[in-house]
Amino acid sequence: MSVMSPHDCRIHVPIPIRSQLRADVARGLCQTQKALPPRYFYDARGSQLFEQICQQPEYYLTRTERAILQRHAADILDIVEECSVVELGSGSAVKTRLLFDESVRRGYHLHYVPIDISESMLRKTAQRLQAEYAQMRIEGLVADYLHGLAALPAASRRLVLFLGSNLGNFTPAEQERFFTQLVAVLQRGDCLVLGLDLRKPVEILEAAYNDRAGVTAAFNLNLLRRLNRELRANFDLTTFSHLAFYNRQLHQIEMHLRSEIAQEVAIADLGMRVPFRTGETIHTEISRKFDAEEVRTQLHAYGLQECAAWTDERAWFLVALFRYAGWKESHER
Ligand code: TRP
Repeated sequence: MSVMSPHDCRIHVPIPIRSQLRADVARGLCQTQKALPPRYFYDARGSQLFEQICQQPEYYLTRTERAILQRHAADILDIVEECSVVELGSGSAVKTRLLFDESVRRGYHLHYVPIDISESMLRKTAQRLQAEYAQMRIEGLVADYLHGLAALPAASRRLVLFLGSNLGNFTPAEQERFFTQLVAVLQRGDCLVLGLDLRKPVEILEAAYNDRAGVTAAFNLNLLRRLNRELRANFDLTTFSHLAFYNRQLHQIEMHLRSEIAQEVAIADLGMRVPFRTGETIHTEISRKFDAEEVRTQLHAYGLQECAAWTDERAWFLVALFRYAGWKESHER
């Protein structure tokens, strides 16, 4: 079906993701604790599996965040008013539609800048949105967060969305770098909406990352399948297993791929042979769980002032809205 629309969705690819993959894998698999950056989860299949994770009964995050956004879409727009919406890790943008629908009700112009590492997901989402909202101007970026922020198209006022507790997938050092980069591109008055998973009993957290249907396990293992395909590696997926547990000291879920046997894996494109001991792991992801007050204080140091915050009945998830007061202003005080 072809849909007539007054606007074309424009998709830009500012950096080659492929060449980064080679360097990141070569580096990550030489370390004492082997590690791979989580951005590589999201090839076409990985992005689909992630959508499925969001529908698992144990994975309360998406559903809880959606309910909060549904209840407070009007409150958010009362504060931010008409502006261009930048979304970091836009995925299927299902939750974002709640804000678009409220914007349409108010007669706001729709300018959407989705940023996603998965080109296939970004194109599909952009096409769907263009069909649903004919008047929307879409300028997508296939990029990781930092390259995406560096390539933002001009806009007079912005609302940056960083949902899904994606902030929790950064280490504290990466988080610092991220906010430094973010405020470098923001203008005074721009807004940020963060969706953050809050601390809660360990059983609930661990269940969310160990769904019974095994979708999260398939998602984690898909990373090795990608290396087999894109770097001609020979990981035997039957000899690796998914491991996810909560680290109470660091308040974070840690995810690994564990080699069940002693083995050596070859990565032809990198000319590498990678040894594994029995039980040795590749660290693939962290998902930090937040304390609302701590986040408020940390962001305030960047000139991001909290205007409002909403949670669910169980206080499992937080949606917080910040306004950028300007770097100077906040540091003169
Ligand atoms: N931002 C999501 C989270 O921290 C990402 C995520 C959920 C994820 N499940 C995952 C990442 C499984 C890797 C593997 O919850």
